[in-house]
Amino acid sequence: EKGGYEHFMLKEIFEQPNTIYDCLRGRLDANVPNIVMSGIDKYAQQIMNAPRIIIVACGTSWHAGLIAEYIIEETCRIPVEVEYASEFRYRNPVVNKGDVIIAVSQSGETADTLVAIENAKEKGAIILGIVNVVGSSIARVSHAGAYTHAGPEIGVASTKAFTAQLAVLTMVALKIGHAKGSLSIERFQALCKELADIPEKVELVLQQNEAIKALAKKYKDARDFLYLGRGYNFPVALEGALKLKEITYIHAEGYAAAEMKHGPIALVDENLPVVFVATKDAYHEKIVSNMQEIKARKGKIIAIITEGDAVIPTLADDVIAVPAADEIVAPMLSVIPLQLLAYYIGIAKDLDVDKPRNLAKSVTVE
Ligand code: F6R
Repeated sequence: EKGGYEHFMLKEIFEQPNTIYDCLRGRLDANVPNIVMSGIDKYAQQIMNAPRIIIVACGTSWHAGLIAEYIIEETCRIPVEVEYASEFRYRNPVVNKGDVIIAVSQSGETADTLVAIENAKEKGAIILGIVNVVGSSIARVSHAGAYTHAGPEIGVASTKAFTAQLAVLTMVALKIGHAKGSLSIERFQALCKELADIPEKVELVLQQNEAIKALAKKYKDARDFLYLGRGYNFPVALEGALKLKEITYIHAEGYAAAEMKHGPIALVDENLPVVFVATKDAYHEKIVSNMQEIKARKGKIIAIITEGDAVIPTLADDVIAVPAADEIVAPMLSVIPLQLLAYYIGIAKDLDVDKPRNLAKSVTVE
């Protein structure tokens, strides 16, 4: 059942070229280009004209929502908010008729997310569910949605569901941006192609497996980790830190790289590994200067970079390179080494990576 892998987590990490492909298949045709998503198509007009979009989710799914916020605002020019379902449901939020609420959930059973959309539905919002488990409660309460088709995720820490959520949310954004005209036809075309190329590029990232295993051995005894990113890679940093906490019980924090100087930089010394998610994008120069700030304080730098980057390897202690990709789709690549790093540090510490202590696969209590 583990398909020759030692753990479900590793199997599911390695399944990602296929799960992302399955998610795109039958929906994305990069040649036309065209994106067909029947559930979303039915509500396309309402989504295009929505005064705003609110994404509600928890944990890893919330991180996917944060990336989607940047993608939707960029391509659709519709204001997006991302909320923890637990906060949203209890704070009497303003929800108006016509608002679009997107619930993102692997299990489709997370209690806080479910109640959040039930409440919003009563207020006249349109509810879209981006869910992995077919027929789950969140899927049933939603007006429409799109399944992530990642297959059963057994490892408690979410991996393949996350990249599938990103693939679906990106397709929704491109589709709406294209329909609305806020995304030029050239850009739509280029991004469809970029998306179609992702499964193959994920395959290439997975070939870094041994290098990441070696990194894990080197850093497994660190007491704390910091994960930093900017732009589309900021939520990837949050997700990397969450994976490490769950799987290895090492304290880790994710931050927007530029926030460092507003406090957390006080933590940096020669014992602190700092993971930079620093693939080539519009923020590249900025993150290089954040890296210099860490280096000046003797922090150990591990950087996820784009192949061919000549600058960062001169600054970082260790680098893992991923193939070049448009910044909008890059998180589906940059997160993979972070999943593997958490996995291999967990293994190096002899922990139960598939069933970390205190965690449950779906959180059906509030
Ligand atoms: C992290 C993780 C959790 C879930 C969260 C939401 O690896 O698995 O943080 O992402 O409990 O669960 P779903 O997506 O099922 O609503």
